[in-house]
Amino acid sequence: MKMERMVVCVLFGGQSSEHEVSCVSAASVIKNLDPEKYEVVKVGITRRGRWFYYQGPVDRIESGEWENEHNKRCVLSPDPHHRGLIVMNKNGDYTVVHIDVVFPVLHGKYGEDGTVQGLCELSGVPYVGDGVFASAAAMDKVFAKRLFAQEGLPQAAYLALKDCSLGDLNDIDAEITASFGYPCFVKPANAGSSVGITKAKDKAELRRALETALLHDRKLVIEEAIVGRELECSVLGDYQNISVSCAGEIRPAAEFYDYNAKYNDDRSELIIPAELDDTTQRQMAEYATRAFQAVDGFGLVRADFFLAEDGRLLLNEINTLPGFTSISMYAKLWEARGLSYRELLTTLIELAPKR
Ligand SMILES: Nc1ncnc2c1ncn2[C@@H]1O[C@H](COP(=O)(O)OP(=O)(O)O)[C@@H](O)[C@H]1O
Ligand SMILES: [Mg+2]
Repeated sequence: MKMERMVVCVLFGGQSSEHEVSCVSAASVIKNLDPEKYEVVKVGITRRGRWFYYQGPVDRIESGEWENEHNKRCVLSPDPHHRGLIVMNKNGDYTVVHIDVVFPVLHGKYGEDGTVQGLCELSGVPYVGDGVFASAAAMDKVFAKRLFAQEGLPQAAYLALKDCSLGDLNDIDAEITASFGYPCFVKPANAGSSVGITKAKDKAELRRALETALLHDRKLVIEEAIVGRELECSVLGDYQNISVSCAGEIRPAAEFYDYNAKYNDDRSELIIPAELDDTTQRQMAEYATRAFQAVDGFGLVRADFFLAEDGRLLLNEINTLPGFTSISMYAKLWEARGLSYRELLTTLIELAPKR
């Protein structure tokens, strides 16, 4: 007897600054889902937030060409009686396409921040990854830092600013000098993929950094600049059973791991496994688990650290939907543990209804 395949709805694109990254991640997910187990329904969200039921080839997702096809409009119904997509037909009527699981392969705003997760909750369709709260908490660097601090996790020294403006430059500069000094990192509280982040070496650079960060958010974080190594590990599990991968190291091709170094510069290196002593390795796994639980994580996160030259292991952030291609750090770290990308996708999908 042949088992009926589950219908997995992959959401891609989206309104965030990481639209393209999402398309690349999603294409990789779609190509690698186990065809014996899953039937894929592809839903593309444009930069302006319009939803389309996409039935064309996967390659056109990565290139962005999917938007040029004659796609029907659709929405995920918030009414749990539909349990699926409402696809609009040309003649004005609609069809309901049943869905078993949503896989939101979206990064950043309206994707990784709890908003789409909230829609999925209403729809009654199980979804892959972290829930509403965990997604929102991990996305907002200020709240994430507070939750991590509460949990006793070591982090770089930081200042959190709300509704500041360039008029506050002198005060902010004075606070930086009094607390950790320059250079420092200026970040929007909610962004991703290093968008809006600048390293500032003095007050003049701070001004430009504030200008840039304020384009993205009214809340900012300013951090002491850590000199050292960048390490990451993958977390996978439900509320109780949590696995952590080995550590991977990033050697960015630029002064820091900015957008270009992340996605365009192939001189940026991922080293798997990272060369680390057992104590640091264990410590990282423990911190990663506690960070996952501090936000009430479910499904997955990638936990990112700095190993400072002075020996401190500091949690930088957790990402609830990290870069998700087969060659991204998240998947590669599991592969190093013997879990293939396909098996990883199956594991994540099977976790979804257990929330
Ligand atoms: N405090 C810091 N010290 C040194 N480098 C940093 C610091 N904060 C960020 N960076 C660099 O900037 C990159 C992006 O910062 P991050 O906080 O991870 O933002 P995003 O959420 O956009 O990935 C990091 O990967 C790292 O290279
Ligand atoms: Mg990061």
